[in-house]
Amino acid sequence: MTIQIITIDGPSGSGKGTLAAKLAAHYQFHLLDSGAIYRLLGLSLHKHNLLDCLDDVEALKQSEKIATNLDIKFVTEAALATQVFLDDENVTETIRTERVGEFASKVAAIPVLRSALFERQRAFAQAPGLVADGRDMATSIFPEAQAKIYLTASAESRAERRVKQLQAMGLDVKISDILANIQARDKRDMERTVAPLKPAQDAYIIDSSTLNIDEVFKLMTDFIDAQLAK
Ligand code: DC
Repeated sequence: MTIQIITIDGPSGSGKGTLAAKLAAHYQFHLLDSGAIYRLLGLSLHKHNLLDCLDDVEALKQSEKIATNLDIKFVTEAALATQVFLDDENVTETIRTERVGEFASKVAAIPVLRSALFERQRAFAQAPGLVADGRDMATSIFPEAQAKIYLTASAESRAERRVKQLQAMGLDVKISDILANIQARDKRDMERTVAPLKPAQDAYIIDSSTLNIDEVFKLMTDFIDAQLAK
């Protein structure tokens, strides 16, 4: 039986995470939140004091080993958001902070660390199917995917959404700081030499700047249903 794969790539704050989870529930497919894996590696390297010396050969070797052996778990129980564990510690909230987002973005720019995470991500492809959320799901991890979607939105609308999310978590944030962070991260993600953020040639591109979740979901399911029926 073919494992069906749907990839959702795009910049942070485009609504990818929410939509990928909704699609996984709709199609009863597994879910890969690849950004969480980069965040977990970033956090782990920070804890090992390796994050600021990745230009050192020995430190990089050690980091590669940590990436290969990263002890992580995603636990989903009915009605609860997925809980994320690093070395058996629940880090669900910690990995969502801006700070850990920065750690992840650093890690994501390093080719050997991306390679070390390749098989771990591929292993999420299990029957009946997978929704894979990330930056390079279609372009490097699952090029064979049946349905490839690239979800984007203007930096301003993404910053507004992110501020609302952080405020809902009780954090006091300024939109100008968040916008600057988003622009810096976009630049780093798009300009890196390895697996830069860009749509696959055969991706369906959706701009969600002026669309709500339900509108985007409808566009996606119409496209996916047509692709999976082929
Ligand atoms: O989607 P996110 O914000 O959780 O991702 C965190 C960082 O990891 C972001 O800077 C981009 C990077 N990333 C990546 O390079 N490749 C992926 N497949 C997923 C995330």
